[in-house]
Amino acid sequence: MKLGILSRAPNVYSTQRLKTAALDRGHEVRVLNTLRFAIDLADDEPALQYRGKTLSEYDAVLPRIGASITFFGLAVVRQFEQMDVYTPNTAAGIANSRDKLRSIQILSRHDIGIPATTFVRDRQDVLAAIDRVGGAPVVIKLLEGTQGIGVILAPDTKVAEAIIETLQSARQNVLIQRFIAESKGRDVRALVVGDRVVAAMRRKAQGDEFRSNVHRGGTTEAVTLDPEFERVAVQAAQIMGLRVAGVDMLEADDGPLVMEVNSSPGLEGIETATGLDIAGSIVDYIADQVDFPELDVRQRLTVSTGYGVAELLMREGADMIGKTIADSGLRDQDITVLTLTRGTKVIPNPRNDRVLEPDDRLLCFGKLDSMRHLVPEKSRRRLRRKIKPLPAEPIHDVEAQSVGPGDS
Ligand SMILES: Nc1ncnc2c1ncn2[C@@H]1O[C@H](COP(=O)(O)OP(=O)(O)O)[C@@H](O)[C@H]1O
Ligand SMILES: [Mg+2]
Repeated sequence: MKLGILSRAPNVYSTQRLKTAALDRGHEVRVLNTLRFAIDLADDEPALQYRGKTLSEYDAVLPRIGASITFFGLAVVRQFEQMDVYTPNTAAGIANSRDKLRSIQILSRHDIGIPATTFVRDRQDVLAAIDRVGGAPVVIKLLEGTQGIGVILAPDTKVAEAIIETLQSARQNVLIQRFIAESKGRDVRALVVGDRVVAAMRRKAQGDEFRSNVHRGGTTEAVTLDPEFERVAVQAAQIMGLRVAGVDMLEADDGPLVMEVNSSPGLEGIETATGLDIAGSIVDYIADQVDFPELDVRQRLTVSTGYGVAELLMREGADMIGKTIADSGLRDQDITVLTLTRGTKVIPNPRNDRVLEPDDRLLCFGKLDSMRHLVPEKSRRRLRRKIKPLPAEPIHDVEAQSVGPGDS
């Protein structure tokens, strides 16, 4: 394949290793400076200029987009996607991971542990917010910090309030997060490639520092992860839309808590700690997937009027429970089951003779009208509201009644 590594740093360890790994495997590879692209949108076909010339054809790109050039870098990656060039990390995936709030918002609805976190804007809401995540000491984070910069441990409520106020007055958005004391300056970095963890290390903070980032002097050692840590790391990366990712987890008393998912994980620390050829795994994965560029399933599937995708839930007591998919009557209603999620297990293309169990979730494609009565209560209510506004209801909750000045 012909691979482009999108990076502004051709000589750093990670870029060098990826390039060498590709060459060793007989691929054609070039490091392309992300900032030297021009995105041309006038033509019928999306195209890219590189250093003033039309870019030749590439099979795949591997984005290594630094935080300081996120906006332009994502535009370049998105353009490659429009050109059907394979990328393990999509622009949307990278954007998700760049913002600590956005990423844990996305993870929070899934079966992935995250440290209790809150996001507030008004000064009057800060104290209660700190309380809700367990009180001081409490962690305060800038939404877009990296390498430990912008992560602060506030020892008491007064200091926490002062820090938050200071940062907000400097127009910085901050998260308030529970301090996971039992992790004691340690965390785990799992390197996910595709649907597996290819390497993992534990990082330990130096001295009385609580941040274990290598850039803050943290030390590293190879670890073998518990299956639960592996599952969480792989699923977190998948949910974010990243096929190459560094997933950072705290080791809490009740299991892994994901702090963040990095879309351009550095390779030096983890290859040194584990002695593994991670660059090779990444290149092999890209070569394996290169024929399957990202496509937006929902966008493509919903072009036929009245059809779409929906997730159906087998509620306790539902008629279909105990029946096979073949006997469930779904097919007769023009509904096809794409995947079945049972607990933390996902079964793609489930067979017709598979028996449905309570709490199974079926990702289906079919006539929206036929699926309407099968979607879970909550999303159904939302759907109805979208179609026709519900009649006005008397106001019950205090919050809605006490809309004061400044709330609009
Ligand atoms: N809620 C927390 N409880 C305990 N330690 C934390 C918490 N959040 C972060 N840390 C420590 O701080 C480090 C940096 O935090 P992280 O959210 O990963 O930011 P960055 O993007 O700067 O690496 C983590 O690796 C971990 O050691
Ligand atoms: Mg981190």
